[in-house]
Amino acid sequence: MPLVSPKEMFKGAYAGGYAIGAFNVNNMEIIQGIMEAGDEEQAPLILQVSAGARKYAGQGYIIKLMEAALQETDLPVVLHLDHGQDFDICKEVIDAGFTSVMIDGSHHPFEENIDVTKKVVEYAHSKGVWVEAELGRLAGVEDDVQSDEHIYTDPDEAVEFVERTGCDSLAIAIGTSHGAYKFTGEARLDFDRLEKIGSMLPEYPIVLHGASSVVQEYVEMANQYGGNIGGAKGVPEDLLRKAASMAVCKINIDTDIRLAMTAVIRKFMAEKPDAFDPRGYLGESRKAVKDMVRHKIKNVLGCSGKA
Ligand code: G3H
Ligand code: 13P
Ligand code: ZN
Repeated sequence: MPLVSPKEMFKGAYAGGYAIGAFNVNNMEIIQGIMEAGDEEQAPLILQVSAGARKYAGQGYIIKLMEAALQETDLPVVLHLDHGQDFDICKEVIDAGFTSVMIDGSHHPFEENIDVTKKVVEYAHSKGVWVEAELGRLAGVEDDVQSDEHIYTDPDEAVEFVERTGCDSLAIAIGTSHGAYKFTGEARLDFDRLEKIGSMLPEYPIVLHGASSVVQEYVEMANQYGGNIGGAKGVPEDLLRKAASMAVCKINIDTDIRLAMTAVIRKFMAEKPDAFDPRGYLGESRKAVKDMVRHKIKNVLGCSGKA
């Protein structure tokens, strides 16, 4: 099945009170693990590619891997650009066949964010491509840039932003952040703000970035086998379930993939010091991605059987 637009996925997610997982991909094993999980759960999937992923794997390789993955499945799959920094990168991936892009103007002042988002929307829509934009700012690490400050999304500005840009979905800041260290104290999200934005933009898909739950099983496993990932804390799964039952239709997960792979590779290396065939530990890491993604689909996102 060819790549699809997220439009129908989000319609179903909004109406059904669930969310679609958007998983970051960087290599073959990650793509295979996610696809296997989606197939076993019959769940729609969004696979997303960051600037870092394009640099690491090469856009051409990722597109060919996706083509291979699509030949083996009937699932609806979206190929999405994660955190597009400017118009040029969005145009490049649209021309290469991505079906959805994010233009991330959240670091710009409001009017500049509107200008760049509008420009991307105009081009993307002329090609039938979906546009996600972002308003507000998440703390944490993103493309190697650290931001210590959250700027929660203002509901009135969100409405004005969507009306003036024509963007199809909006990433908002309500307390999540990128990376493995999301909360020092109690984890909380601003559900009142989400509720308000949802009621002011009816039927409109909202996106949650920085939504890994930082699965403690993998943090502990990594630490047990030589890692030093202290104090890592993510968004509790019950909060993500609640967000998915509201206006949030897309939940972004990258850190949990990194942790799952790293933990099982550390374990493998520690337990088998004489092994040196990469298929051993990469195979284990692929299985860990699959297991983790299946768990998210079934128990967090609620999109099992929605393909
Ligand atoms: O939002 C950030 C994503 O986790 C992608 O991270 O830029 O290191 O690939 P990356
Ligand atoms: P995590 O770091 O919580 O996995 O967030 C990933 C993300 O938002 C990608 O855009
Ligand atoms: Zn993000």
